[in-house]
Amino acid sequence: MRRQKISQLLSSGTAGQAITICGWVRSRRESKNFAFVVLNDGSCQDTMQCVVDAGTAAFDMLAKCQTGAAIRVEGVLKESQGKGQKWEVQALAIEVFGEADPETYPLQKKGHTLEFLRDIAHLRPRTNTFGAVFRMRSALAWHVHDFFQRRGFRWVHTPIITSSDCEGAGEMFTVTSMDLAKVKAGPGGAVDFSQDFFKKHAHLTVSGQLEGEFMAMGLGDIYTFGPTFRAENSNTTRHLSEFWMIEPEMAFATLQDDMALAEDFLKHLFAAAVRDCRPELEFLEKQYQTIKIDDLARLSETKFAHVTYTDAVAELKKAPVKFEFPVEWGIDLQSEHERYLTDVIFKGPVIVTDYPKKIKAFYMKQNPDGKTVAAMDVLAPRIGEIIGGSQREDRLDVLEARMREMNLPVEEMGWYLDLRRYGSCPHAGFGLGFERLVQYVSGMGNIRDVIPCPRAPGLISH
Ligand code: 4AD
Ligand code: MG
Repeated sequence: MRRQKISQLLSSGTAGQAITICGWVRSRRESKNFAFVVLNDGSCQDTMQCVVDAGTAAFDMLAKCQTGAAIRVEGVLKESQGKGQKWEVQALAIEVFGEADPETYPLQKKGHTLEFLRDIAHLRPRTNTFGAVFRMRSALAWHVHDFFQRRGFRWVHTPIITSSDCEGAGEMFTVTSMDLAKVKAGPGGAVDFSQDFFKKHAHLTVSGQLEGEFMAMGLGDIYTFGPTFRAENSNTTRHLSEFWMIEPEMAFATLQDDMALAEDFLKHLFAAAVRDCRPELEFLEKQYQTIKIDDLARLSETKFAHVTYTDAVAELKKAPVKFEFPVEWGIDLQSEHERYLTDVIFKGPVIVTDYPKKIKAFYMKQNPDGKTVAAMDVLAPRIGEIIGGSQREDRLDVLEARMREMNLPVEEMGWYLDLRRYGSCPHAGFGLGFERLVQYVSGMGNIRDVIPCPRAPGLISH
């Protein structure tokens, strides 16, 4: 079935051109002499208005062209007399593929809440909002690759099933083929994973970093872009149990290089969104008023602020507000603190560096002060942490001592220590939560609205 996409016709159609379009009916208006059927085919934010004259065979099909029906229209492209659109289609023939019963079709009316649409995630891609968000998600993913590929970073595919806990936070989903009704206990009553498929405890990855590191130690600059899983019990607007993460890793690089890369990367993505997703952004800006395209364009050209964790804590302690979680050197910054830094103090994205080692992962390079590590988080207004990264500990003795101190399985992670044993070098990387990026750029308030099938505690509907 040859069809033209509405996006194509709107950008390069010519008057009088014979066309065939397929799409879903957004609305239908009938009068005695003619009718309008408005179609969207997912190719762009815009719709195409089809004019159907009374007395034609197409007019006889109108009863089946309910809101939501999938149809094909053959006709002629002509300049529209009406306001709001340049082109319209004079319909000559209509074929109805699938009707949508107005009595039961959930998207019969406009103006549903995002909460309502979340319960019908399988139908929401047909709405203006989710069309915009998912087209933008696709464009941003493309630009992630574009950014790294142009700089000579290699895309590497790290495992989804793994036996190491990169972040050491223990927030992992177990992967097993055991019959849970017959699980055998091992010594001490714990589950005996030596009976399991992999003969040890396996889980879904919380980060591709550790494997990314060994790829960088041969290929130089790499990045991962894949699904990531966290079994943390966080029911918030910025946490998912399954999300996509982008993790670049650079050999021969310091924290300074890492921060420069993170800043260039985000700016590249902001600029790309403004350039390539304008109709989507214009729709979202008008509809929700959480983003301003001009702000995004300006951000793509403004230097990010930098502050050390120690200075950030000092600023927060001086703040004339009462935080729910009191601020003390050594605490993990809560979202209220992050938001105060971005929204009130720095009024934009800020890179916080040199966190206390106690609240960060084992692999981060220890600073000479013995208390902090060469870590950096990029905090963004509205979202808080959007990127987390660090220079990695490249000294074998220091890393091993830290792992023992944190009771990590040093023997099992001999492969990771090998990277420090043989040809160790300064290296650094970071992780960008892809949904947090999409959330930030689109202005969507809830991270569950920027991924087709959100997973969160108690939520797995598709
Ligand atoms: O700060 P995180 O935990 O860092 C890492 O995983 C490192 N291994 C990254 C690295 O250095 N290669 O996670 C990185 C980012 C966060 O800044 C956040 O944007 C996102 O991943 N993220 C989540 N996004 C959605 N839902 C969750 N539950 C997330 N947890 C982290
Ligand atoms: Mg983090």
